[in-house]
Amino acid sequence: MNLTLKVWRQKDARSEGHLVSYEAEDVLADMSFLEMLDVVNEKLIAAGQEPIAFDSDCREGICGTCSMVINGLAHGGQRGTTVCQLHMRHFNDGDTIVIEPWRARPFPVLKDLVTDRSAFDRIIQAGGFVSVNTGGTPDANGLPIAKTDADTAMDAAACIGCGACVAACKNASAMLFVAAKVSHLAALPQGKPEREQRVLNMVRTMDQAGFGACRVTGSCEAACPKEISLDFIARMNREYGKAILKNSPPAKSGGD
Ligand code: SF4
Ligand code: FES
Repeated sequence: MNLTLKVWRQKDARSEGHLVSYEAEDVLADMSFLEMLDVVNEKLIAAGQEPIAFDSDCREGICGTCSMVINGLAHGGQRGTTVCQLHMRHFNDGDTIVIEPWRARPFPVLKDLVTDRSAFDRIIQAGGFVSVNTGGTPDANGLPIAKTDADTAMDAAACIGCGACVAACKNASAMLFVAAKVSHLAALPQGKPEREQRVLNMVRTMDQAGFGACRVTGSCEAACPKEISLDFIARMNREYGKAILKNSPPAKSGGD
């Protein structure tokens, strides 16, 4: 099939960007979206032009690196699918495809389709880990974990930190990402000793990074390639509320 691509080109973080048209010819239905861009880039390089910059790493839907808005939808709008797993069979001969970077102030564009998502790294550094010394490898049955808790933790741990939830949210909220990380660790015994400081620190860092408030529109869940549920936001809000209550200074007593 032959396609027209309108791709966001931006020299660097300080430059203005704009859409540039390219013709993608002889695109195979079995190509992934990134392979299609690879072919376009090979032609650009052969013609002595600057290739389109975009992020990718695993190309297996597990690293969260690939990130672009395709026809207005983060990751292209196929349910549970990252850009690297999106195939050209979902497009038709003659289509015009608009390709843009994540649009969110905390994710500034570095070049073309590449954004700086280090704000997510800072949130993880604020508490997305377990620092208690767990000693050597424990016996498999030494720390029983209820099946429901293990399932909850695994569902939350599926988050690959891609940032599509932020890109899809009109407020650029990072609540789904942070909720997944907080819930993953809070559900397991290893994560419980630090659960209060974790949620307080991660939420504070999220706010400092400039992410917006959650308005529970569900656009994040719809765009998430790992189908992280909005329920985790409710879980995090409960975690946060309890942590605030337990860490508030005691009310001053009245009287004489
Ligand atoms: S919650 Fe989903 S959309 Fe958001 S960073 Fe994690 S995997 Fe990506
Ligand atoms: S390149 Fe790793 S998830 Fe797409």
